[in-house]
Amino acid sequence: MPPKGYLQRLREICTKHGILLIFDEVITGFGRLGAPFAVDYFGVEPDLVTTAKGLTNGVVPMGAVFASRQIYNAFMTGPENMIELFHGYTYSANPMACATALATLDTYEEEGLFTRAAELDTYWADAVHSLKGAPYVTDLRNMGLIAAIELEGIKDAPTKRAFNAFLKAYDKGLLIRTTGDIIALSPPLIIEKSQIDFAFDTLRTVLKEIE
Ligand SMILES: Cc1ncc(COP(=O)(O)O)c(C=O)c1O
Repeated sequence: MPPKGYLQRLREICTKHGILLIFDEVITGFGRLGAPFAVDYFGVEPDLVTTAKGLTNGVVPMGAVFASRQIYNAFMTGPENMIELFHGYTYSANPMACATALATLDTYEEEGLFTRAAELDTYWADAVHSLKGAPYVTDLRNMGLIAAIELEGIKDAPTKRAFNAFLKAYDKGLLIRTTGDIIALSPPLIIEKSQIDFAFDTLRTVLKEIE
């Protein structure tokens, strides 16, 4: 998690030295923090924002890059005989992906999902920190509807503890993601409080049962 003021300072340094600042919002974008983007949550404006996942509800492959007006203009004001930003991929602007993205954006608006994480924020934080003192837990971090549960690794077998947790949780009907020895959670924005309870009650049991 960025310490308080960290991103603001980074913006100042980048501006001062003419360095482009890029936010990777593949996870934080589209309501995950209780604001539309981390840009809004932190009140810091980068030059480029990369997005994916939430853009199409994670079900159809698509990514998008947002650029500042200055960068956009740089690409769009080349020589007159040239096509602007000449690039292309086989699946660029794939019609099904575009339709999915538009429908997803409508659903976000209709169901108020860009701010729902802010309503659940405290409930989620309490649930995350209820794991304090559970076996192997060395650190707990949360922001919006994101959580990191850091585990003490098994000696000479990094990532194994978290993978054991993954397998055990799966057996109990809970799909988690692990990275290194950290359990990284980003639940659907439509999650209910009862489902948050289920997730953390299950994890508590999992941590007691794994090696
Ligand atoms: C923060 C972050 N950035 C980028 C990526 C990669 O995204 P993509 O596979 O859409 O390029 C991921 C994938 O999990 C991610 O979590």
